[in-house]
Amino acid sequence: MTTTAVYPGSFDPVTFGHLDILERAEMLFDRVIVAVLENQGKSPLFSVAERVELLQASIGDKPKVGVDTFSGLTVDYARRVGASALVRGLRAVSDFENEFQMALMNRRLHPEIHTVFLMTSFANVFVSSSLIKEVCRFGGNIDAFVPAEVARAMNARLRPAPAGERP
Ligand code: PNS
Repeated sequence: MTTTAVYPGSFDPVTFGHLDILERAEMLFDRVIVAVLENQGKSPLFSVAERVELLQASIGDKPKVGVDTFSGLTVDYARRVGASALVRGLRAVSDFENEFQMALMNRRLHPEIHTVFLMTSFANVFVSSSLIKEVCRFGGNIDAFVPAEVARAMNARLRPAPAGERP
């Protein structure tokens, strides 16, 4: 039997924390689909297509891993692709309440799909896409938190060179 997991999220953009969770999920499942949510209220930094591109560049060639997009309920998408699990990363206790609520609601909607929480490594406990965006926006160095292609894209979007310095 092939086990498939969906790793859903905004991934705006992907961080080393996400990649850490993905590596752990790969050890547990035969197939992992990283699924970017399309219909989100938040105003994102990157379009869905850009987020998918950055994910693909960051993940590289991993035979067990696919990147996809979805809209609607995560559990409905998981069912469509034949997944038995949803993977979510947990960093600190502060993540827990919302994740717990979401996991229970998802279980109520589709009891056959199980949420699996994986813990990131200690080095990534404080890494979040929103914090990294703030650090970047105000001139901080983000190289330790995101892959090089993501750092380049973020710097270009959030810290465009002043008019006189453009090529
Ligand atoms: O990376 P994020 O923003 O923490 O991911 C949140 C996400 C996309 C997993 C969550 O918002 C989600 O599953 N949205 C799709 C709609 C849905 O299924 N909501 C949960 C019902 S409880």
